Formats: sequence, structure tokens, C-alpha cells
Amino acid sequence: MAEQSTLILIKPDAVERGLVGAVLGRLEAKGLTIEKMEMRTMTDDLAAEHYAEHVERPFYPALKEFMTSAPLVALVASGDEAIPAVRALAGATDGRKADAGTIRGDYSLSNQRNLIHASDSPESAKREIDLWFG
Ligand code: TYD
Ligand code: MG
Repeated sequence: MAEQSTLILIKPDAVERGLVGAVLGRLEAKGLTIEKMEMRTMTDDLAAEHYAEHVERPFYPALKEFMTSAPLVALVASGDEAIPAVRALAGATDGRKADAGTIRGDYSLSNQRNLIHASDSPESAKREIDLWFG
């Protein structure tokens, strides 16, 4: 039993498409506990911190444009092994290649507009939870 908390963003594409409930439903159905949740709009500065590992990548300007373009839902979810469990629910980064049955696989045909962010390690989760809710 390894209780973990993870930072999840339900991205602007999901909000615009009316899929917040569908995504939240999957998290709840899995048995995760929603600890904190807030609708927010990412600023340029928050994007640069959140995506610090990607700021120099060629896709970053377009990613920042998308992520700051409209509100998203930020939340902290917890449960046994919550970090890998939510990554598995999210599916592969590229929605075109993500397995059916995953959130990205079922709802996205894009490598950028892929509905959900989920922390990828305990270190990332701590950093991202502090960044969004600290
Ligand atoms: P990454 O951390 O590689 O993926 P994940 O969200 O699965 O942890 O990338 C962060 C986000 O950047 C990703 O969700 C969508 C966007 N992105 C692009 O727009 N183009 C790309 O080529 C990649 C790799 C990511
Ligand atoms: Mg990542």
C-alpha cells in the first residue's frame, strides 16, 4: 500500500468540448479521491514553470498558446499508487496512438490537445502540487 497524491490538469480542450465530467467520472470510477479542485487559467509564467522540462523544445510555443488559451481544471487526486494509476488512465501522450480505453485513446486525435496532464513521478507530483496548490 503506497498512498500517493498526483496533480491532474483537465486541459482547455476538454473544458471546451464538454468532457470535464467524462474525465472526472473515470478518475472517480477508478476509486481515486479528489482532494482539491479548481478552475484556473494558466499564465505564461505558470506554463513555463509547469513545463520547465519542455520550454526549449520546438513544440513549446504552440503548447503554451494552447494551455493558456482558456480555462482548465486543476486537481489533486489521491489513492494507492495514484501516480502510475492516473498515467495509465490517461494513456500515451499522442492521442492518435493511445490505446482505446484510455482517456486520450478514447477522446483525442492529437499529440497536443490530449485532454489531461498527470504527474509522471513522485518528484513531479510534489513539485506540481506545490506549484498549483502550494
Ligand atoms: P510530455 O511530458 O512528453 O507528455 P505527457 O503529457 O504524456 O507527460 O509532453 C507534455 C505535453 O506537451 C503533452 O501532453 C502534449 C505536448 N506535446 C506536444 O504538443 N507535442 C509533442 O511533440 C510532445 C511530445 C508533447
Ligand atoms: Mg510529461
